Amino acid sequence: NMIEDIFNIIAKSAPSIRHELSTRRGSSNTQNPTGDSQLAADIWADNLFAEKILELDSVGLYASEERENVLTSGDGFSVAIDPLDGSSNLLSNNMIGTIVGVYDSILPTSGRNLIAAAYVLYGPITTMVTAYSGSVNEYVVDQGNLRPLRKGITLPKKPQLYGFGGTENDWTPKFKKYAESIRNEFKPRYGGSLISDVNQILTYGGIFAYPALISSPTGKLRTLFEAHPVAYIIETAGGLSSNGDVSLLDLSPENLHDRTPLYVGNKTLIEELSNL
Ligand code: AHG
Ligand code: MN
Ligand code: MN
Repeated sequence: NMIEDIFNIIAKSAPSIRHELSTRRGSSNTQNPTGDSQLAADIWADNLFAEKILELDSVGLYASEERENVLTSGDGFSVAIDPLDGSSNLLSNNMIGTIVGVYDSILPTSGRNLIAAAYVLYGPITTMVTAYSGSVNEYVVDQGNLRPLRKGITLPKKPQLYGFGGTENDWTPKFKKYAESIRNEFKPRYGGSLISDVNQILTYGGIFAYPALISSPTGKLRTLFEAHPVAYIIETAGGLSSNGDVSLLDLSPENLHDRTPLYVGNKTLIEELSNL
C-alpha cells in the first residue's frame, strides 16, 4: 500500500531524528519562508525527509514549511511536511513533532484533496498517529517500526482541556469572549507545539486554538503543513475544525506558505464559535 509506505518511511526516520536532536539545537541564523528563525535541527530534518520521501515511487512532490519551493520527482502523491513542529521547544526540552499531509494533487490545493495525514510525537515515548481511509490509529515507534497502540480513535465525548496560542493582548475581542466562556469549564493545557497540544485533545477531548491575532489576522499556523493535516486527523476522529468560518479542509491556499487561524476539537466547542 502506497500510503503505508509513506507512513513507514516517516516512522523509519524517527529514531535518527530523535538521536540527532541533542546536537542540533543551535540557531542556523536563517529564517523559513514564514519568517520563523530556523534551528540547525529544522534544516537537517527537512533535508532528511526530502531525501527519504522523494525516493518513493509513489511520491511526485515534496513541500516543506522550511523551504521556499516544492521539490518534484515525476508523478505521484504530494507530501507536505512540517519536519519539526514546535522547534522552539527544543531549547527547553519540551515536546516536538513531525506533521505530514499526503495530497492527491499538486500543491497548493484544498484540504479536500488530502488522502492521508499523520504526525510523530517525540515525547517521553515516540508515538505516531495516522489518519487514513476513515480511521485514526496510534502507534509506538519502536526502533523505526510501528507497533499498534490504539485503533479507531475517536475524540472523548466529554471534553476536558483547552489550549490557546498567541498573546492575550493580541487576541481579538471576539476570541477573548469565546476564551472566557471556555476557561470557566475546562483545564488549561498549552505546550507550545501544535502536535503535542493536538495529541492531548485527541486523548482527553477539548479544544485547541491558534486564533487570528490583531498583529496577524491570519494567525500563525500554516494551512498546508499544519492546519490541513491536523484538521484531517481531528475530523476523521469525529471532531471538527474551523478557521472561524468554515472547516479548515475547505481552505484552498493561494500560496504554499499561507497561514490560517485554527480551531480544532470536540464538535460542540467548535460549533459555539460560529454562534458568536
Ligand atoms: P514551528 O516550530 O513548526 O514553527 O511551529 C510552532 C507553532 C506551533 O506548533 C505552536 O502552536 C505555535 O507555533 C507556537 O507559536 P508561538 O509560541 O510563537 O505563539
Ligand atoms: Mn509547526
Ligand atoms: Mn517547523
